[in-house]
Amino acid sequence: MKDAIYFDHAATTPVSPLVIQTMTEVLTQDFGNPSSIHQFGRKTYKLLTEARNAIAKNLLVKDSEIIFTSGGTESNNAAIIGTAFKKQIDGKHLITTAIEHPSVLQTMKYLKEQFGFEVTYLPVDEKGNLAVEMFKQALREDTILVSVMAANNETGNLLPIQEIGEILRNHQAIFHTDAVQAMGLQQVDPKDLGVDLLSASAHKLNGPKGVGFLYKRANLSFTPFLHGGEQEGRFRAGTENLASIVGFKKAIEILSQNERKQRFKKYQTLQDLLFRRLDEAKVRYYLNGDLNNKLPNILNLHLEKVASNLTLMKLDLKGFAISIGSACTAGNISDSHVLAAMYGKDHPALKQSIRISFGEGNTKEQVEKLANELIALSQKTNKEKK
Ligand SMILES: Cc1ncc(COP(=O)(O)O)c(C=O)c1O
Repeated sequence: MKDAIYFDHAATTPVSPLVIQTMTEVLTQDFGNPSSIHQFGRKTYKLLTEARNAIAKNLLVKDSEIIFTSGGTESNNAAIIGTAFKKQIDGKHLITTAIEHPSVLQTMKYLKEQFGFEVTYLPVDEKGNLAVEMFKQALREDTILVSVMAANNETGNLLPIQEIGEILRNHQAIFHTDAVQAMGLQQVDPKDLGVDLLSASAHKLNGPKGVGFLYKRANLSFTPFLHGGEQEGRFRAGTENLASIVGFKKAIEILSQNERKQRFKKYQTLQDLLFRRLDEAKVRYYLNGDLNNKLPNILNLHLEKVASNLTLMKLDLKGFAISIGSACTAGNISDSHVLAAMYGKDHPALKQSIRISFGEGNTKEQVEKLANELIALSQKTNKEKK
């Protein structure tokens, strides 16, 4: 582990030392329940309020528009199920895309199978892009919810959130976006994007696991599915995970606009370096995704004729952590639904692609080492196949 090189930041990121320090202070000194009236409670309530305030400020929204949750999965579930239940009197049609995270796709499936909602899954093209025209065609009078992710977790591709938000401006449908992957590299402004609901998760941006938030536009209501106390404006019952929430605040504070820009540039350099090295060695590879419309920290590569499960294991043995698509299926290696949506389910890319995702700690030297391994693997496999 010590010398291992981590290239799987889209799965999760290491917790920043400053975040650990802040959380440790809270865990050791501030154990009060933020809902308690006495001084212990008042102190932690203040910390909670400050965290909400800092996060709301970062998103240019009101404090009351931030609901803390246990992460991206809960935020997506709360937004989608809560809106579908609340608005079903106005229609039962939902729109999403074929490339969403399972926490959206499985939630849609649940609503369809258990409650009779109708779901339209928008297709993407070979580069993983969603055409706004497809969305326009799918939108109906009885559409009550549209859920489209801001950036895809397997390819890094960006989706046309602002354009969809504009189209929905005078439509009854509630617009939700899963911004879990986008937030680390993009300044997210829900008002500017035209979204009503937005999901985020701390562990993708050097914060702790098990905490996230759901931005909910003021005056919008949905049916909560956690019932109990009156925390989080009555939208999410349960004593708040205070240390993690404060850690999340710290992680977001570290991500100033300037820091995001610097990281963006750094990942572009690392991405270009890897491409250059593979090109020089004449490795036959394709980028799954659109180079001109993606986050530079996620690189999904189809290495021709190189089996992805073997690549993952061989690289693991050599000390490199990469992945095949999403990490969210508990160690399962199944074909990527994202690549299937791009190419069809029988395309060789589904069995020959790997995802490399950069993070703050990655260096050019590490990318050089990874490039050498990929070159060696590709040359060896192609020799064996001759
Ligand atoms: C796009 C996207 N949405 C949602 C999630 C789920 O977030 P969490 O792990 O916080 O539940 C992930 C995690 O991989 C993700 O990449």
